[in-house]
Amino acid sequence: MKSAAPVSAAAVLPGAPFVAYRDGRLTLEDVPLHELAQAHGTPLFVYSRAAMLAALAAYQRGLAGRDALICYALKANSTLAVLRVFADAGCGFDIVSGGELERVLVAGGAPGKIVFSGIGKTRDEIRRALDVGIRCFNVESLAELDVLSEVAQACGQTARISIRVNPNVDARTHPYISTGLKGNKFGIAHEQALAAYRHAARLPGLQVVGIDCHIGSQITEVAPYLEAMERVLDLVAAIEATGIAIHHIDLGGGLGIDYAGETPPAADALWPALLARLDARGYGDRALMIEPGRSLVGNAGVCLTEVLYLKPGEQKNFCIVDAAMNDLPRPALYEAFHRIVPLRLAAPDAAAVTYDVVGPVCESGDWIGRDRALAVQPGEHLAVLSAGAYCMSMASNYNTRPRAAEVLVDGREARVVRQREAVQDLWRGETA
Ligand code: LLP
Repeated sequence: MKSAAPVSAAAVLPGAPFVAYRDGRLTLEDVPLHELAQAHGTPLFVYSRAAMLAALAAYQRGLAGRDALICYALKANSTLAVLRVFADAGCGFDIVSGGELERVLVAGGAPGKIVFSGIGKTRDEIRRALDVGIRCFNVESLAELDVLSEVAQACGQTARISIRVNPNVDARTHPYISTGLKGNKFGIAHEQALAAYRHAARLPGLQVVGIDCHIGSQITEVAPYLEAMERVLDLVAAIEATGIAIHHIDLGGGLGIDYAGETPPAADALWPALLARLDARGYGDRALMIEPGRSLVGNAGVCLTEVLYLKPGEQKNFCIVDAAMNDLPRPALYEAFHRIVPLRLAAPDAAAVTYDVVGPVCESGDWIGRDRALAVQPGEHLAVLSAGAYCMSMASNYNTRPRAAEVLVDGREARVVRQREAVQDLWRGETA
């Protein structure tokens, strides 16, 4: 790739710190994105290594001087090359399945830095996690405590556990991604947590090491975190009064990003606020763990797509692109907003038309953006921004559409880190 001119601050796009127009062409770090679209086809996910490391650095600054482990929640983006970036930077990982465990190991993550969350761990998954020696199971029910103890004993091991408490705090986010309220399926209710710890401490296959909570995702305020932490610390006091030591406190993930002008606190502002409160309550000496996902990768990725057809209508104009809800499921699932911009800036006198940007899938729910003003023609390309989290990791093969390829950008280098799926891959294992 050719070297590009330095980016002026004004050219950088909102919510996409490493995306900028240079000479009218959209770039990620120093790579012109139209070159990638031409070379590798579309839809194409492109991620910036520098953006991921910058997001991680904000957490590292916020937690500086503490005994803290940042466990990247790979459900946000579990592509091996992305995991490798975080493993190389010393991160641990928050997993929620046996599949995620194997991904972390293949990518070179340290088993001793893995925490295993999730409400439905199977015995096989538990055995494998014990075998490789993960750091901690984040347990979500009384029944799971019993199974975990039984499986650990049968393997001649002791499982280190933390109980995920449900602090009944409103994260004030989309109902589907709010997890810390009483009506949610997650964690053990605050009122039952003490009894659960007592039970865990008596089980022969378990060793209590910590406490955890996670109240939701795309959180844009400090207050819900503070509230949750206060409730968790109340419990730590009550648990320790019974003689059970809590060595680490895991406050989950959930920090939001700028998709549409949201202004979540930066990680290096959030953490000092939380740490001040932790110190004030006398728990500043505890080891800390966190499980961020979206805020580490969300704004580091874009999805490139080609305009296939323009379809003017009486009520709506449609801009039909080659990416769809199977590639970018967030609008269909949560009515989520992603900015959509052209790879080549339109001429100043080009007339913009308001379109719904939609994919080829046979559902009216297959939309990527609504009422977007664009001056585009078929054959031109668009970039869907903030597509680094919960896009590729939630992609499907609906309508027998192969999943997209992925490219990792590092300065001027661009490397394909996942081949586009071949259509034959889609019926592997099937019998006609
Ligand atoms: N830890 C636990 C236990 C979680 O359940 C989650 C996310 C995380 C950490 C990471 O949260 P983050 O920092 O990424 O907010 N598909 C949805 C988001 C689902 C989040 C589920 N849990 C979306 O696209 O908005």
